[in-house]
Amino acid sequence: MCGIVGYIGHEDAKEILVKGLEKLEYRGYDSAGIALMNNEGLQIFKEKGRIAALRACINQDVMADIGIGHTRWATHGQPSRTNAHPHQSSSGRFTIVHNGIIENYEEIKKTYLPDVEHVSDTDTEVIAHLMDRFVKDGLDTEPAFLETLKIVKGSYALALLDQENTEAIYIAKNKSPLLIGIGEGFHVVSSDAIAMLQVTDQFIELMDKEIAVLKQDSLSIKNLQGENITRSPYRTELDASDIEKGTYPHYMLKEIDEQPLVIRTILSKYQNEFGELSIDEKIRSSVIGADRIYMIACGTSYHAGLVGKQLIEKYSQIPVEVHVASEFLYNLPLLSKNPLFIFISQSGETADCRGVLVEMKKLGHRTLTITNVPSSTLSREADFTLYTYAGPEIAVASTKAYTAQMAVFALLACDIGKLKGLDNDFNPLKELSLAANAMEVIVNQKEKIENLVWEFLGMTRNAFYIGRGLDYFVCLEGALKLKEISYIQAEGFAGGELKHGTIALIEDRTPVIALVTQQHVSASIRSNAKEVIARGANVLTISMEGINNESDQFTVPEVHEHLTPLVSVVPLQLLAYYATLHRGYDVDKPRNLAKSVTVE
Ligand code: F6R
Repeated sequence: MCGIVGYIGHEDAKEILVKGLEKLEYRGYDSAGIALMNNEGLQIFKEKGRIAALRACINQDVMADIGIGHTRWATHGQPSRTNAHPHQSSSGRFTIVHNGIIENYEEIKKTYLPDVEHVSDTDTEVIAHLMDRFVKDGLDTEPAFLETLKIVKGSYALALLDQENTEAIYIAKNKSPLLIGIGEGFHVVSSDAIAMLQVTDQFIELMDKEIAVLKQDSLSIKNLQGENITRSPYRTELDASDIEKGTYPHYMLKEIDEQPLVIRTILSKYQNEFGELSIDEKIRSSVIGADRIYMIACGTSYHAGLVGKQLIEKYSQIPVEVHVASEFLYNLPLLSKNPLFIFISQSGETADCRGVLVEMKKLGHRTLTITNVPSSTLSREADFTLYTYAGPEIAVASTKAYTAQMAVFALLACDIGKLKGLDNDFNPLKELSLAANAMEVIVNQKEKIENLVWEFLGMTRNAFYIGRGLDYFVCLEGALKLKEISYIQAEGFAGGELKHGTIALIEDRTPVIALVTQQHVSASIRSNAKEVIARGANVLTISMEGINNESDQFTVPEVHEHLTPLVSVVPLQLLAYYATLHRGYDVDKPRNLAKSVTVE
C-alpha cells in the first residue's frame, strides 16, 4: 500500500519517477505526486486520482536531476490533493514521501510539535516537521533524520529531500519494503524493483531501522545508532518483459493465461535432475516434525490455504488449521506442542500475516512462508520460504498466484507423505502437468465464457456460487473475484447450507453458479441447484468431464479429484474478468483496493 520512488543522477528525474510510479500503481492509486529538486529550488506536483492525472499536471519545462515520488492508498485522511504526498515541513526546507503508518503521530504532534500547523490529515507530515525542529535545535540533516526516526513508531519506507543540500536523498526503512537501485552515476530508490528495472537491475535491500544517504556517485547505509553498514548489491532475476502487458488489454487476462505455464515452471523448480520431487531438507524436517500446521493468510491466499489443508491432511497425514490472519491473534486457538506456522502470501508483505508471524516467533514457533516474492518481508522474517514462481502478479485481483499456491501445496503434501512412507497413489508431478494442460484448454474458450457472462450475469446486482467439498472453497474464491472487480455482490456457499437461510435471497432470475467437479457430492450439489431453480434462479452449471450432464453450460477437462480447484477456478476468473469488462470498470485496479496490503 503506497509506493515510493526516488532518483539522483544526471538525467532528468521526472520521467524516471513517473514511469516508476506507473509500475508501482498496483500498490495504491488514489493520488500521486512528485517533488523535483535542482539548484534553483524544489517544485511539487501532485494530484488526486491515477498516475495519468499526475502526469498531466507536471510542468514539463522543469528540469531536475533529483526527485522523489509517491503513489497513495489512503489510510489517514481521504484521497485528496492536499493529502497526496510529497509533504513539506513548515519552513519548506524538508520534503518527504512515505509508505507505512506512523502509529504515534498524534502523540508526536502534542509532545514535539504543539505549535506547528499541519496542512494535511496524514500521519506522514509529522516527520517533515520533526526535521525542521531538530535542525532548528542545531543538528545537521543526517543527525536530525536519525533523531526523528528514534521518535517515530510504526512502519515506514521514506525518502526525504533537503533544499539546503541539493546533492542527496535521505531514505529510511522499518517494516515497509525499500530498495536502493545502483547505476553508473546515479542511485534510485523504490518500494519494489519493478519500478526501477527501467534503469537498473542491481539493487541493495535496506533493512529495518536503517537509513541511507544517496548521492549521484556514493551511497552510505547506517543503522539508527549511526554505525556504518556495508552490503553488497544483488542482480534481480526480474525481467522487464515480465512486468509488461504485451499485447494483452489487461494484466488480469495475461495472468489468467499464464497459469498453465506457471504450473509447469513450479514443476521444474521442484524437481531434481532425476525428475524426482525435491524440497529443501530443512523445510521437509520442519514439516515432518510438526504435530499440527497452522496456515495463516488473507483473501485469495486464505482460499488457497483451505485447499492446501485438504492436500496436506490427505497426503501427509498432518492435521492442519487454516486461519484468517487478521483474526488469529484475537481468537488464538489452543496451540499444539510442536506447531508449524505456514504464512501464505502472494506479496509476502501483508501486514495482517506479519502481525501473526512476529507474535509466533516471539513464542519460539517455527515459521514457513509460501510466497511469490523473493526477499519479501514475510520471506525474510520466517524461518523458511517456499516460492510459488508465478512471476510478478500485477493485476490487483489475484489469479495465477492462487493456482500456484495450491500447486505448491500439492507438491509439499506428497513429498512429506513419501518421506513418511505413506502409501499414496497420487503422482503430483504427473497430475499437475495434466492440470496445466486442462487449464490451457479452458483459457482457449474465452469466447464461450464471455457469452455466459451476458446470459447469466448481465446487469445483475448479485450472484451466488454454490459447491460442496473442494468446490465450496473454489466458490469462495470465485465470488471474491467477481465482487472485488465487477462490484457485483457475490457470495460463495456450501450447497447444503443454502437451505439454512441464504435460499431466502433467491428470486426470479437470481444468478447462481453451481460447481460440480467432485464425483462423491455431484448428486447432492445438483439437488441444491434444483432447489434454487425451483425458486426462480438462473443456474449456470460448471462441471467436470466424466460427471457432466449435457445441459451443463460449461465443462472443464477431467483432472485428479484433488486438483480440481486449479482447473475449476479458471472459468470463474474469466467470468469475473468479462463481467467487469462489460460494466466498464477498471479490471486491473478496482476501487478501494491495493495489491499489497501493508496496513493492519
Ligand atoms: C484478491 C486478493 C486479495 C489477496 C490478499 C492477500 O484477489 O488478491 O484477497 O489475496 O490481500 O494478499 P497476499 O497474498 O499478498 O498476502
